[in-house]
Amino acid sequence: MTKTATIDNVIPRADIIKRAARIGAEIRNVRLSGDLPEQTIGAINEVLLEHKVIFFRDQGHLDDAEQEGFAVRLGKLVPHPTVGATKGTASILELDSARGGGRADQWHTDVTFVDAYPKISILRGVEVPPFGGDTIWSNTAAAYLDLPAALQKLADELWAVHSNAYDYAVKTRASEADRKHFDEVFTGTIYETEHPVVRVHPETGERTLVLGNFVQRFVGIPKYDGQRLFDLFQSHVTAPENTVRWSWKQGDVAIWDNRATQHYAVNDYGDQHRVVRRATIDGEVPVSVDGRHSVTRIKATKQAPASCLIARNAFHGFAHEHVVSNGAPSCGRRAAARASPALGRSPDDRPDRPGHGRTAAGKDRDPVPGLGRTSDIHGAGRGPRLSRPRSSSNGSATPSAGRRTSRRS
Ligand SMILES: [Fe+2]
Repeated sequence: MTKTATIDNVIPRADIIKRAARIGAEIRNVRLSGDLPEQTIGAINEVLLEHKVIFFRDQGHLDDAEQEGFAVRLGKLVPHPTVGATKGTASILELDSARGGGRADQWHTDVTFVDAYPKISILRGVEVPPFGGDTIWSNTAAAYLDLPAALQKLADELWAVHSNAYDYAVKTRASEADRKHFDEVFTGTIYETEHPVVRVHPETGERTLVLGNFVQRFVGIPKYDGQRLFDLFQSHVTAPENTVRWSWKQGDVAIWDNRATQHYAVNDYGDQHRVVRRATIDGEVPVSVDGRHSVTRIKATKQAPASCLIARNAFHGFAHEHVVSNGAPSCGRRAAARASPALGRSPDDRPDRPGHGRTAAGKDRDPVPGLGRTSDIHGAGRGPRLSRPRSSSNGSATPSAGRRTSRRS
C-alpha cells in the first residue's frame, strides 16, 4: 500500500487543509491522544513528512501528561539539554512570556547546538493573547531546491558550527528576565557542534539546509565572508513564499518536522501573556550528502567543580569542563595542557585558518584551539566520527531548539 493510500484510509483528504503552497496543513476531525490507533499515528507522521508542519485546532483536552502521551507515539521524549523538563514531565518545555526565555523571536531550528537535535516538536497553545504571537515556519528542503546549482554544490560541502552561546547583548528586545534566563539557565552548559549545512533527511531522503540562529561560523570560512554566506542561504529559508504563518487559538497544537523546518515566534504582543508548552521527540545525528555525521566538539559546564575549571575562554568568558567517554567529568592533564595555550583567543579568530575543521578526506582537526577536541568530549580520537557519541558525552545525551541574537528554544 502506498503512503498516500495509507493516509487516505485513515485521514480523509478533505480533512487535510493546506495552509500554504510549500509548507503547512491543518488536520481536522482528529482528537489527539496517546490512545490513537497505530494507523492514525502512522498517517499523522506521513502528513507531517509531506507538509513539514501540521496544525490541530480544539485540542483543549490536553494537559502535559496527555500531550506527552500522544507525543511519545511519535518517538522518544527528550528534555531540553540545558533548560531540562517541567517538573513531573519527561520533556515539556514551557515558554512563558512573563518569565525569562519565553520569546523565541529569531529564526531557528530547535536545539541545533547539539548533534542529534530533535526530530519533532509538538507545541500546545496554553494561553494565547487576543492579538499577536503568531508563529511562522519555513521549509528548509524547498529552500535548498531554490538554490542555483552552483550554490547547492557549495552548500553541500560546507559545515557550520552551532552553539547556544552567543552575544546575547545584541538582542535589543531582551528583558532583564530574558538575560538572566540566558546566563543562568540556557547557557548553563555550553555546546559547540559542527553540522553539515546540508543534511539528508533520514525518512524522506530530501536535502535540507541546517542553519538558523545557533550558527556561529562556517568551518574554514573567515567570519566576514561567512556572515554573507549565511545571509544568502538564510534568505532562501525565510523568503515569505517559503513560509506558513499560524495564528494561535487556545488549545491549538502545532507539530513540526524539526529536520526540515525553521520557525520564528513573532514578538508582537507586547506585555500580554502568552504561554505555550512543547513536547520534544529525540532526533538522529545528521548525515551530510557524502555520509559524514555531525559532531559535538564542546560541552562546557559553567558551574563545574573548582578542580575541573581548567580554562577560561576569552570569547564567551566561561570556564570549560571537559568530559570523557565514560561520562564522568575529566580534569585531566591532557585537557588542561591542550586548553592553556589558547587562553585569550576567540574561537572566531581561528576557524578560517588553512585546514581548519574536516579535510576533504574527513579527517577531524581541532575546530577551536584550546577549547578541547572531540576526543576531550567523547573520547573519539582523531579520526572522522561515524557514530553518535551520546552515551559517552553528556549523560544527557540528548539533546535536543535559532540568529546570533536572541532566544532560543
Ligand atoms: Fe523553537
